[in-house]
Amino acid sequence: MKILGIETSCDDTSVALYDSDRGVAENLLSSQVDLHDQFGGVVPELASRAHLVNLLPLVDHLLQRHELRPRDLDGVAVTNGPGLIGALLVGLSTAKAIAHAADLPLVGVHHIEGHLLANALTAELVLPAVFLVVSGGHTELILARDVGVYERLGATLDDAAGEAFDKSAKLLGLPYPGGPHIDRLAASGDPERFQLPRPLARDPRLVFSFSGLKTAVRLVVEALPRPLADQDVADVCRGVQDAIVDVLCQRLFQAAKETGVGAVYLAGGVAANGGLRAAVAKLAKRHRLHFTPPERVYCTDNAAMIAYAGWQQLRAGRRDGLDLDSFARAPLSSWR
Ligand code: KG4
Ligand code: ZN
Repeated sequence: MKILGIETSCDDTSVALYDSDRGVAENLLSSQVDLHDQFGGVVPELASRAHLVNLLPLVDHLLQRHELRPRDLDGVAVTNGPGLIGALLVGLSTAKAIAHAADLPLVGVHHIEGHLLANALTAELVLPAVFLVVSGGHTELILARDVGVYERLGATLDDAAGEAFDKSAKLLGLPYPGGPHIDRLAASGDPERFQLPRPLARDPRLVFSFSGLKTAVRLVVEALPRPLADQDVADVCRGVQDAIVDVLCQRLFQAAKETGVGAVYLAGGVAANGGLRAAVAKLAKRHRLHFTPPERVYCTDNAAMIAYAGWQQLRAGRRDGLDLDSFARAPLSSWR
């Protein structure tokens, strides 16, 4: 089966072709980072307009490169939420138009399911498993008993882990999104210099909180001499990353223990973080749990993961109609 995937939930316009015989045949991305950088975060209206400009040329390019006509496809999978409504609607209307015009089955994919199943693009999934979903908008622990059978174990009470990275980076004057910059700079930072708080460390629940970290980082940064020295910035980056990675790891392995699963996975943009990947790999070994890190290109938003998740649904007989709606927020629910 050849599935066209479309992802426009936030600030990346992405289209992909998943071929069930060959894997990901193409994963195209048009990033809007430069557009939003000047505002220090994503401006929803600008994101929608950029998707409108970029999406159809990307679809055309993909089909031409693979010498396909829309009717040669076997289905269209599109992210229909959660995300920015205007941005989602651009992808959803386009997917509906293509599916309708070429008489193809259409399926809506929950963005979080896309992130979870991105792991299957790298290596065969070992299920049941606990997934730590960490992105700019989400920090959740999901128990996947099977593909399509999900249970939410816990989530953040306030900011998402990616937001904590991005807001800390902003305080340090780093570009948006700050996560990758903190990741890079933390490597040369001193782990002992800034011990930032680990919020809710003693809370027995599977919850996270990152809003306090932002305040702690602000106080640390305000006390530093101006202009900020490169080593000071690197040391703060290391302190921020270690604090975030610590609490994420603590909850992930707590969740694995409580559910008795044999595998853990990372998903979402923050799963690209070098410190997090290394820490989870080390702990998984110690706890004798299976862990393979997802390929970095499939951590941040991409349509390959949406096409793959759509293929899983289509082969299980799921279809959506042209009345498929988009939604800004909704927990991931099971479909099997
Ligand atoms: O999954 P994603 O592309 O979009 C959302 O669904 O939110 O995640 C974007 C988030 C941003 O907050 C970005 O700073 C963070 O992922 N991120 C990272 C890294 N790469 C991306 N955070 C830490 N280290 C990274 N290497
Ligand atoms: Zn995402």
